[in-house]
Amino acid sequence: MCGIIGYVGHNLCIPKIIHGLENLEYRGYDSAGIAYVLNNKTKIIKEKGKISNLKKLLDFDTTTNLGIAHTRWATHGEANKINAHPHSLGKFTIVHNGIIENYSKLKQELENNGYVFKSETDTEVACALLDEIYKQEKDILKALNKVTKIFRGSYAFGIICSDDPNAIYALRCTSPLIVANSPDGNFIASDVPAILKYTNKYILLDDFDIAKLTKDNIIIYDEFLHETKKKVNTFSGTFESAAKNGYEHFMLKEIHEQDKVFKDTINFYFDGTIESLKKNFSFLKKYNKIDIVACGSAYHTGLVGKSLIENYVNIPVNVEVASEYRYKRCFYDYNTLVILVSQSGETADTLAALRKAKNDGITTMAIVNVVGSSIAREADHVIYIKAGCEIAVATTKAYLAQLAIFSLLTIYLGYQNKTISENELNIILDDLKKMPKLINDTIKNNSYFDIADKIYKNKQIFFIGRGIDYAISMEGSLKLKEISYINSVAYQAGELKHGTISLITKNTPVIAIATDTKLIEKTISNIKETKARGAYVIYVSNEEPSEKFYDELIKIHKVHPILQSILTIVPLQLLAYKVAKNNGCDIDQPRNLAKSVTVE
Ligand code: AGP
Ligand code: GLU
Repeated sequence: MCGIIGYVGHNLCIPKIIHGLENLEYRGYDSAGIAYVLNNKTKIIKEKGKISNLKKLLDFDTTTNLGIAHTRWATHGEANKINAHPHSLGKFTIVHNGIIENYSKLKQELENNGYVFKSETDTEVACALLDEIYKQEKDILKALNKVTKIFRGSYAFGIICSDDPNAIYALRCTSPLIVANSPDGNFIASDVPAILKYTNKYILLDDFDIAKLTKDNIIIYDEFLHETKKKVNTFSGTFESAAKNGYEHFMLKEIHEQDKVFKDTINFYFDGTIESLKKNFSFLKKYNKIDIVACGSAYHTGLVGKSLIENYVNIPVNVEVASEYRYKRCFYDYNTLVILVSQSGETADTLAALRKAKNDGITTMAIVNVVGSSIAREADHVIYIKAGCEIAVATTKAYLAQLAIFSLLTIYLGYQNKTISENELNIILDDLKKMPKLINDTIKNNSYFDIADKIYKNKQIFFIGRGIDYAISMEGSLKLKEISYINSVAYQAGELKHGTISLITKNTPVIAIATDTKLIEKTISNIKETKARGAYVIYVSNEEPSEKFYDELIKIHKVHPILQSILTIVPLQLLAYKVAKNNGCDIDQPRNLAKSVTVE
């Protein structure tokens, strides 16, 4: 969601910041813009749509050494050129990621004081307020510090003030922002990929920190305006955004990486011995109630986690969507553990849920992909998945790696609690070893694409399942709708008859998932109910059906139930991918979506 980059240094800034902005494209956006300083004057160029539209308006040889740029994911006001960032009022030009929640009241006051607004954005209001306060304070740092006391919401700002045209200022609260020094100049950015070509060393700003960047210097001030020294982090991975490695889309590439991601994630915590799990997860032993809180696909992982932990560890697990959890009454006791799941580690609602739990004195643990992200830094315990950089907005490999972590936690806790016997443990561990090959085999099965070719023109597609298969159905349905724009819902197979079955007519595709042996017969009865109403049934199961109640069969390998979901999701990802491709959709950057959702 939204990308910010800024550069001040000894080289031309436009090529550098456009390169950086392009490496933030994966986050999702709808317009792009740049502000640079030339002969002490700030010039703004912006355009609706892709960065390529903006590039056509730029002269890359412009002799400017200072600029800020932005990809916007509209929250306040249509995605058009006027609302695109940067915004400028009075002496300030800013780019902003986040939402100023009290902007409406501020806007009225500022209009009364004579400010005239061109856009519908909350950002332009932030700009005006900064200008007004600066008029009183006559000091940029003091003005920046003061607005933090007035704004409610989340923000990361890149700022140019016309009274100090040799500096970029940066300020953040909740939305992510880093600063980095490279041999020829200094950067601000929303995320590491933006600057990785120039340096792999970066500093994470904390909430209310203010950074002042000039071409040879970075100074960071804390919320009391005291100069402060921050830890310099080193990014050790490589950013593979340039390389789709021959795949047509990042999503397809990332689906194909899942056997490796599974292996890397498991091997990081488990060397084949229970001792290694004990070393990594022993802190979990004392909790007998778990809340899992997350958004989107990460929430769906939580639902699988709940099913596994409740069935194999015998402790109650409550799973909540973070945007609801943060405002609801929670019934914690001192034995409650709150688990936050997030690929990006920056999702605003999940971060807020984490802070709420911490405020209430509850122990938190995060399952995160992005190292050093806000959620990873603030949680009491962190378990990193080893998915590597995920570019496609629709998550696949990170989702699968999160499932792998829940499988490991279940194995460990179940064994400790003696709810998993030595004998069963050996069966699970045998299957665990086979998983990378089985994941690979499942990816390589090419029957899913033929099925996708038969259903891609439908206006709606249903997913049904029971228990853990319902949790997987939800993820399959989300994958499909987010990238193909086809209306899709996931239903508990047994619940369909209480209303939703009225939507099933001749040839409505119903993707039915049944891998839980004790529920398969029940699910088959529900499938037959849809078939009787004309549904086109795609049956996904790990058991060979004894009769033909389906139109298409996707047969997956049978493994221990603790690991099964990791295989079940693969065909659903590939089905969604091919349906979207056949419909000509923008698979890696679906409309309206962002990779990292840093607004509430
Ligand atoms: C997944 O395909 C989605 N794009 C989305 O639901 C995502 O899982 C959600 O926004 C949570 O993101 P996070 O894992 O980075 O917190
Ligand atoms: N709230 C701002 C807007 O709508 C910023 C959105 C963003 O984070 O891109 O312009």
